Amino acid sequence: MKSDFPLLKKRSKLVYFDSAATSQKPKAVIDAEAEWYETLNANTHRAVYDLAEKATEAYEAGRADVARFIDAPQGSCVVFTKGATESINLVVNAWARHNLKKGDTILLTEMEHHANIVPWQLLADEKKLKIEYWPITDDGELSPLPHNSSLVTGHCKLLSLTHISNVLGTINPLKKIIPWAREQGIKVLVDAAQSVPHMPVSVRALDPDFLVFSGHKMLGPTGIGALVIKKERLAEMQPWQGGGEMIERVSFKESAFAQPPWKFEAGTQPLAQVHGLRAAIRYIEQRGIKAIEKHTRELTTYAFEQLSKIPGVTILGPAPKNRGAVISFTVAGLHPHDLATFLNRYGICIRAGNHCAMPLHERLGIVASARVSFHLYNEKTEIDFFIKSLKAILNEWTKNGFVAQLTHEYSIKRQDTKQKQI
Ligand SMILES: Cc1ncc(COP(=O)(O)O)c(C=O)c1O
Repeated sequence: MKSDFPLLKKRSKLVYFDSAATSQKPKAVIDAEAEWYETLNANTHRAVYDLAEKATEAYEAGRADVARFIDAPQGSCVVFTKGATESINLVVNAWARHNLKKGDTILLTEMEHHANIVPWQLLADEKKLKIEYWPITDDGELSPLPHNSSLVTGHCKLLSLTHISNVLGTINPLKKIIPWAREQGIKVLVDAAQSVPHMPVSVRALDPDFLVFSGHKMLGPTGIGALVIKKERLAEMQPWQGGGEMIERVSFKESAFAQPPWKFEAGTQPLAQVHGLRAAIRYIEQRGIKAIEKHTRELTTYAFEQLSKIPGVTILGPAPKNRGAVISFTVAGLHPHDLATFLNRYGICIRAGNHCAMPLHERLGIVASARVSFHLYNEKTEIDFFIKSLKAILNEWTKNGFVAQLTHEYSIKRQDTKQKQI
């Protein structure tokens, strides 16, 4: 498996545990981007010559591949974007801006990535909307909703929530939440950035109004992602960016717009990246998304068990049964940045910081955490090496207190976080 990934093949000693940030790319994906430029490169939807028609066909086939991969129902609309962040910004500006009014409430959860908080805050400031946060339990699951929640009082118009938390790993029970929101006329956006790369996701079965994800976390290229829009929402949406491609007719005075999805795709699109994303989908389909889910779940369960046995380690979030391929944790007295720096010396890449979820860390009463995350190319032996290295670091650290050395390396990064040691 690793041999399919040129970077991992070249750096065979590297242990890459940061796939929740971005996954590695198989050769098939890297080759597909080159193939685009070598055999298909022309701008789409614009010219009548053969090459441009082939390019357009390939680009539109990419849309069909995405729809198949996430089981998007007939009539729903797949829009290509730069990634999950841009997809959410599209919904904010093309739908929410025109359908929410002063006093309406948007419900987010306490476990959201900044990508699913900041765009809403920008709109809320401008349009005097309210934002409410669905609280979480100390175990990192969604709490029962408080009685005064806007969901109960009827002021909530939109619920925007993550499918899998990129910090806690929590898998939210969308099959219960979405029908319940729908009964109350609340629209739902699902941030599937951490689920689509790891488990079968059926838009048909979940039935959200909007679902977003990024290509680069699912073995695909950077700069490409998608938004799936439920058929019923399409007529409520306005263009969010203007330019070529998204119009039907333009005069000096006014413009008429193309039908969705093109209405939301202004300018030249990331064509080679769509081709790369198609290759990623093919690659995942060949390996089987269920097999990938099983493998990463086994790794996560194993890492969870091993980490739990280490004194001083606190794992954030729920038990492995309800968890994606992500484990964030803290080590008593050792700053996550220092830990990540020590592990780097063993060739182990882990993430340290707030993982674009500052409010969640604030809720948990910590400033930062360490995070390991897995994908299909990771192996159990890598977890053994990670645990062994972690134990060696903790042993050495307790014996010699060599944090002083690292405090020097990270003095600048740590300045803002020093007040609150974890
Ligand atoms: C849950 C979640 N949502 C949204 C994003 C943003 O994705 P992107 O940076 O690809 O737009 C991420 C990225 O880490 C994420 O984990």
